[in-house]
Amino acid sequence: FNFDLLLIPIGYLIGSVSFAVVVSKCMCLPDPHTYGSGNPGATNVLRTGNKLAAALTFLGDALKGFVAVVLARMILGSDSLTSTLNSWILCSVVIAVFLGHLFPLFHGFKGGKGVATACGILFGINWILGLATLSTWLIVALFMRYSSLAALAAAIFGPIYFVFLFGFQPMGIALVVVCLLLIWRHRNNITNLLAGKESRIGAKKVVQS
Ligand code: G3P
Repeated sequence: FNFDLLLIPIGYLIGSVSFAVVVSKCMCLPDPHTYGSGNPGATNVLRTGNKLAAALTFLGDALKGFVAVVLARMILGSDSLTSTLNSWILCSVVIAVFLGHLFPLFHGFKGGKGVATACGILFGINWILGLATLSTWLIVALFMRYSSLAALAAAIFGPIYFVFLFGFQPMGIALVVVCLLLIWRHRNNITNLLAGKESRIGAKKVVQS
């Protein structure tokens, strides 16, 4: 048995810790499933008006993507982005930690949309890749003031930046899968954006904190 395969369920379990729920509990804020978009993510936690809670949610959710990838790369070896078998295990870990965030074992499988976790994954693969994608998010968010639109743009550019930096590797496929899952999770946001009903970053608070 190849014990490296255990990294895949471990990745899923790491992804299953929803920091929106954990941070909200620790800071005596309402459950994020009960207000705003109902999404357990940093954007929705920000709707309580508590910027620290939103920042901690983003950092926690990003850190789990980062930790899962870095841990797997440490165990699989530094060539795990390119070597045949290990690259596929690393790809599976990336998809597993992302699925853990979307369908968390510890929170009744009701997870988030994956933006922060994807960001952490990209930084775990390569810091330039992470920075380029995060910058894309920031530029769109700054000009358009829609968190979801920024996330959709960043998700599409992430795999493109990867191919630009590393060429065609299996990880490119994993990042396309992550991108497609992220777009699918944002389907309500896309409908709202098209209807002009999406709430902008910094729009009125929905919860008194
Ligand atoms: O991180 C999710 C964000 O892109 C949208 O969140 O709460 O506005 O659906 P929300």
